[in-house]
Amino acid sequence: MTETAAARQSEMTLSDQDRRGLYRTILGRRDVRGQFLPDAIDDGVLARILVAAHHAPSVGFMQPWSFIIIRSPEQRARVKAAFDRANTEAALMFDGERAEKYRALKLEGILDAPVNLCITCDRDRAGPVVLGRTHMAEMDLYSTVCAVENLWLAARAEGLGVGWVSIIEPAALRTILDLPERVVPVAYLCLGKVSHFLAQPELENKGWRKRLPLEELVAFDRFNGPGGAGDEAFIERMRQAQQAAEKGELA
Ligand SMILES: Cc1cc2nc3c(=O)[nH]c(=O)nc-3n(C[C@H](O)[C@H](O)[C@H](O)COP(=O)(O)O)c2cc1C
Repeated sequence: MTETAAARQSEMTLSDQDRRGLYRTILGRRDVRGQFLPDAIDDGVLARILVAAHHAPSVGFMQPWSFIIIRSPEQRARVKAAFDRANTEAALMFDGERAEKYRALKLEGILDAPVNLCITCDRDRAGPVVLGRTHMAEMDLYSTVCAVENLWLAARAEGLGVGWVSIIEPAALRTILDLPERVVPVAYLCLGKVSHFLAQPELENKGWRKRLPLEELVAFDRFNGPGGAGDEAFIERMRQAQQAAEKGELA
């Protein structure tokens, strides 16, 4: 290894503070809809979080994403109208008390946030045969979701809130944003400074759904495969790590 390569490699070893900062960012990330402030986002911050998104992993290094920055009040009003239509339909899909609870939830910040961002996936970005995508065609969509998560975490580290709005007919987004046929709208996001970040998911706070115990989601050797006697200590560590995370701490 050359001296420069070795030096660059050691730069990539995170300090304990950096490592903790990454976990703090992950645990403190929230989907934001009710806490947006109207203040403008600094250009440098917006540029940095887009670079973070663009450094996501992608199948065959396809980089299928594009980013549409939507500031225009007219465009946001169109998207909000599409959300309202879909949300009215969505509310009818729940029964009784659940429907009432659903109607009371705030599920978007389209007009409250100063910037909206649509992250799209160009399914033809790298031609008809893509390394790694030969047997799972949807890998380009998953790659785009990786870009979304990178942006979401970078935004949290910058103190910016992000809210994902998926209660919109994709066809409506296609029309409003002039998307070509081969381009899929993967994520419609609201972005902005916030008054505060909630400690827990809003859906958990409002009693819609709880975080599942991690140990029920981890299996061994096959789907739902139980752990053996030797796995008990590890399962206990997972339990402790999740309990600590619920308090915003690292085990
Ligand atoms: C693919 C995806 C779509 C989502 N769509 C919506 C949405 O339309 N409206 C909304 O209020 N939240 C939406 N969310 C946010 C989730 O409700 C939220 O991530 C979840 O409740 C956990 O909360 P947290 O992100 O604050 O940890 C979406 C999240 C994802 C990953």
